[in-house]
Amino acid sequence: MRKPPVAPLATFVIFGALGDLTRRLLAPALVNLVRDGLLTKGTKILGVAHTEGDDNSLRDVLGEYIDDKSDWPNMSANVHYRRGDFTQAETFAALAKELTGNVVFYLATSPGFFGQIVDHLGDAGLLDEKGGFRRVVIEKPFGTDLESARALNRQILARASEEQIYRIDHFLGKETVQNILVTRFGNALMDAVWNRRYIDYVEITAAEVVTVGTRGAFYDGTGALRDMVPNHLFQLLSLVCMEPPVSLSADAIRTEKAKVIAAVPPIPPEDAVRGRYAKGKIGKAKVPDYTAEPDVNPKGRTETYVALKVAVETWRWSGVPFYLRTGKAMSARDTEIVIHFRDAPLSLFPDAEGGKLPPNTLILQIQPNEGMTLDIAAKAPGPIVAPVPVSLDFLYASHFDIGHRTGYETLLYDVLIGDQTLFQRADQIEGGWAAVQPLLDAWGKKGKPEPYKAGSDGPEAAAALLERDGRAWHPIQ
Ligand code: BG6
Repeated sequence: MRKPPVAPLATFVIFGALGDLTRRLLAPALVNLVRDGLLTKGTKILGVAHTEGDDNSLRDVLGEYIDDKSDWPNMSANVHYRRGDFTQAETFAALAKELTGNVVFYLATSPGFFGQIVDHLGDAGLLDEKGGFRRVVIEKPFGTDLESARALNRQILARASEEQIYRIDHFLGKETVQNILVTRFGNALMDAVWNRRYIDYVEITAAEVVTVGTRGAFYDGTGALRDMVPNHLFQLLSLVCMEPPVSLSADAIRTEKAKVIAAVPPIPPEDAVRGRYAKGKIGKAKVPDYTAEPDVNPKGRTETYVALKVAVETWRWSGVPFYLRTGKAMSARDTEIVIHFRDAPLSLFPDAEGGKLPPNTLILQIQPNEGMTLDIAAKAPGPIVAPVPVSLDFLYASHFDIGHRTGYETLLYDVLIGDQTLFQRADQIEGGWAAVQPLLDAWGKKGKPEPYKAGSDGPEAAAALLERDGRAWHPIQ
């Protein structure tokens, strides 16, 4: 296999260095990159946070989630801590004195700081690329609605160019998400049927068993729609729907994806369902009603589930509905894309019971049990021709070693080598918010989400959303 080049030497300045994201994902991902021989020796982590601390205390905190510690000593010698307030110019003036060469500024902070950190970086001259590259990585959520996302883009782009900005959507770090492109554009077979003539409808599901847990303070002001739809689910949608790019350059791919999102008309409330988990059980664990969770306003309107019917008004997809759903405290963890093909033109073979054969489906299983399944009809042995549905299965784990990855390795590596393919451009972000804005407007004002039992597949209205079109959701499993 072709070996990727070693990334250029750089310093990772992580704002919010003591937070969960840095400990659980960023530090382990960087160590995995060291193990894979993809980081230049001497790559530095400079953690910045408000708390009292020193190099050793940061090394202890970051070491906690690193399972295989064999490469950690090499890395940790290059881990340093600077105490600093993100709102104060002096924090950035001090950084400007010590930083030279290539620098990645990683904003792993609460979103309220994104704009001001970039302003301070600009004021301190830290975004000036004369002595090396200066890149800014911004975590989600990027804005809370269309207006705030536009304002944040304006603020950031006043200080840095689009080429310096890496807006993270961690779904794009998942191998199976990147594999959607290969499935579609590496296989002529798929290309031939990937359009409205052969595809009846598409489902995109991101079901989680986790509850809001300890994230109430963040989640209650956010809800499932903002948390998952304009970002993660729309990224999956755009990969499924995009036209073939003219090249594999980041701009060629991102332009095609942005066109898909721009072709999604604003979603009317009658094509959307919001739900909220109520008391129930997931496996043996008892789950309280969402409103009884810590840091949740018991009288609030926040949804933990959303189902949508979405159109993509392009030549390829006109008339094909895309049904999207996501929720917490559901029956199983299941992120999948189900492509439902149309019936065969003529029903030549009745099935074993004399009925109509089910149409083909292709399931792209994003997680867990990463893989792909194509359901087709096959003749059951015997004197009569009675076809039955069978599955052609591809399981990632049977072919590749995909364990022990955080999903951030590729993303961090891409920032270092300057490949923006897997990051969101300003127009994609704004397009996503524009599509869901009518729902944010309507849901913020009145009504409440429909309850669903924790451990179930979501509210009844979500099933009805497909039933009214004579369709049904693929079971969550
Ligand atoms: C995050 C959301 O962006 O994605 C979380 O804020 C959600 O609420 C998570 O649980 C899902 O990601 P994954 O990789 O676990 O499917």
